[in-house]
Amino acid sequence: MTVVTSVTPIRWVGDATSGVVELLDQRRLPAEEVWIRYDTAEGVARGIREMVVRGAPAIGVTAAFGVVLAARGGASLEDGVAALAASRPTAVNLFWALERMRAVIAERGADVEALWAEAERIRTDDLAANVAMGEFGAAAMPDDARILTICNTGSLATAGYGTALGVIRSVHRQGRLRGVMACETRPYLQGARLTMWELMRDGIAAELVTDGMPGHLMSRGEVDAVIVGADRIAANGDAANKIGTYQLAVLARFHNLPFYVAAPTSTIDLETADGSGIPIEQRSADEVVRIGGVTIAPVGAKARHPAFDVTPAELVTGIVTEAGVARAPFGASLAALEKMR
Ligand code: MRU
Repeated sequence: MTVVTSVTPIRWVGDATSGVVELLDQRRLPAEEVWIRYDTAEGVARGIREMVVRGAPAIGVTAAFGVVLAARGGASLEDGVAALAASRPTAVNLFWALERMRAVIAERGADVEALWAEAERIRTDDLAANVAMGEFGAAAMPDDARILTICNTGSLATAGYGTALGVIRSVHRQGRLRGVMACETRPYLQGARLTMWELMRDGIAAELVTDGMPGHLMSRGEVDAVIVGADRIAANGDAANKIGTYQLAVLARFHNLPFYVAAPTSTIDLETADGSGIPIEQRSADEVVRIGGVTIAPVGAKARHPAFDVTPAELVTGIVTEAGVARAPFGASLAALEKMR
């Protein structure tokens, strides 16, 4: 495959039996590029929980390599897998990747080479899925598009290229992109720090907007389409994604704009009937009252921090996957796509 991504958030350094996982510390981007080294599954689980690596597909790939570390000794293999499974609750890609690794364990036990090969397949499959998704999604985007997105769904959130940002990259490569509007995405600022970093590195025209600006920009006719990623898509098409996504879908419907979700089929959870069954990660209020270590609210201020929200399927124009674009009724179209994965 031609190289389609210049950034990767996860690397395995060394061979299967003695190598380590290294994660690009996304909390410190764009100011500095620092890699943190992990040699235990528990360490990797902590890295996921503390947002060193984030983004549903990247979390899945990272956890798969974490299982390789667990198989090499230290704590028990099952304890290592359990620690990884407990790291973050919403992204179903985490559990999907651990299931794939468990299937190898069931057949081969703690065979480190076999586990490493499976983790590597999870990584390369994700990259290939993103490139395919880019083509399907780009075909659905209007020409000369001004596209609004939220969070970071690019190379940093995946094994490379990205989901929603991958679609944007493909529209750009086709010469059909007028520009991107990236919502800053409070409180972690994935849009401001990570999406803008990726887009600027690739020379893609982009503007940063605060999370309160999309309604105004849509009302002025300055947005042509919205595309976002997902952490878990229920069987009926309800999609959990970064907090702030749902309000974009409501605004898009009001302004008659297409609202697409882009995610690999590994993000589809047919066992969860609808969005009410998707666990929403509640993170610390501290992350809301502080930005970059600076307290921005009065001392003692209380705050809420649900990290995700659920967009009901009825607000979604289409779900872009590596197997094609699912459209309403999503119950049938998602089940058909899942069979193809
Ligand atoms: O809390 P994060 O940064 O892990 O949240 C990430 C998102 O919400 C992404 O949109 C989603 O994981 C899709 S990434 C391709």
